Amino acid sequence: MALPMTQVATTEGQSESSKKPNPMSFVKDVCVVGGCGRVGLPLAMGFARVGLKVAIYDINQKAVDTVNSRVMPFFERGAEELMATLSLEQMTATTDLDIISQAEHVVVIIGTPVDEHLNPGFSSFTKFIDSIGPKLVDGQMVILRSTVYPGTTARTQELIARYNPNVDLSFCPERVAEGLALEEISSLPQLVSGTSDQAVKRASALFSKLNTKILELSPLEAELAKLFTNSWRYIQFATANQFYMLAQEHGLDFYKIYNAMRWEYPRTQGFPKAGFAAGPCLFKDTMQLASFSDNRFFLGHSAMLINEGLPQFIVNDLKEKVELGDKTVGVLGMAFKGNIDDARSSLSYKLKKVLEFQSREVLCTDPYVRDEALKPLEEVVERSDILILGAPHRVYKELKFPEDKIVVDIWNFFEN
Ligand SMILES: NC(=O)c1ccc[n+]([C@@H]2O[C@H](COP(=O)([O-])OP(=O)(O)OC[C@H]3O[C@@H](n4cnc5c(N)ncnc54)[C@H](O)[C@@H]3O)[C@@H](O)[C@H]2O)c1
Repeated sequence: MALPMTQVATTEGQSESSKKPNPMSFVKDVCVVGGCGRVGLPLAMGFARVGLKVAIYDINQKAVDTVNSRVMPFFERGAEELMATLSLEQMTATTDLDIISQAEHVVVIIGTPVDEHLNPGFSSFTKFIDSIGPKLVDGQMVILRSTVYPGTTARTQELIARYNPNVDLSFCPERVAEGLALEEISSLPQLVSGTSDQAVKRASALFSKLNTKILELSPLEAELAKLFTNSWRYIQFATANQFYMLAQEHGLDFYKIYNAMRWEYPRTQGFPKAGFAAGPCLFKDTMQLASFSDNRFFLGHSAMLINEGLPQFIVNDLKEKVELGDKTVGVLGMAFKGNIDDARSSLSYKLKKVLEFQSREVLCTDPYVRDEALKPLEEVVERSDILILGAPHRVYKELKFPEDKIVVDIWNFFEN
């Protein structure tokens, strides 16, 4: 990385006032980097909705064109309607990196996956900062919003300071759930942290515009709060899945026990149902925490083994009961959870792979996921001997299955 020597500096000893933004010099209030993504786009739209001038910088040209033509690239509740009301003046997307220099706040929400060894990698983030670094200008504020490995904000501060010490840095984790993003952007409290008091103040001021409640933490606390949140959810799902498997292995009806546990008993009300716990966040955030704990996060690793083992368990369980090799199996719902169109890291696809090895034929369907290999629902129901619910989409609720079909419903979705 070649840096002009005059720009190599640290923030130490620098007066807060030297970083003061001059809003007059910025054409945009916010630039959302990675703003065509699943959580970046609802956030950009949320800022535009409250009257801020928003730019989106994204490397995906196709998605940029789609957004600028005011079409949603994916499903998000209420987004199509909101999109239709936003002018290009209010929100515009581009692949031109120069847009970064034009925004007072640069909110970064690019993907942060773990690698094939389940470890987070910092090099792609370093490369990313190197790409935007030369575009950062005095008085700007960078807000990290991607879920990051603990310590990333502190490291990023050092990287950014090499390019421009007069830039504030904050970490404000995104905690919305896909499908509910536009509501939750304004209803969930925002955790705000920064590498200086001024950074915290500025980030708080920005998120207050979304009408959120603000809670201040240190960067490391905020990074861990996000990872703890997702890991905790992942562990809860794993607990339900482990209990489901235990009950099944003993020939018992898990939901009879589940309902008994929860009946008029306040302390078990939050207990989740069994089901596929997957998607682009819970697994990888749990693995980020495992890596941070020097691989001594035993609960996290156990949760991963349980949740990821559920498709194989379902198939093994079926094999105990029927001659699976003779059977056509249908999977209903390929998204990673109900009522969305996102199939990233979906366990329905893992189930499909296991079934392809064990059964005669596998037919998959989903009303939302775009995948040419999927079949219409009616065909899957008609041709399959066994139907396995992969994602509990609301539209399946009223389905009635012919008596001769075996239906596997780990959510107990069809019963309630
Ligand atoms: N999906 C969720 O429900 C969710 C919820 C909370 C937090 N998060 C976190 O938010 C982050 C983004 O997740 P996502 O699901 O929106 O991912 P995504 O893949 O849908 O979106 C990422 C976007 O960033 C763009 N991008 C990638 N590299 C870029 C670069 N160098 N410059 C500019 N744009 C770039 C991609 O083209 C894409 O549009 C992740 O860190 C994730 O953990 C996700």
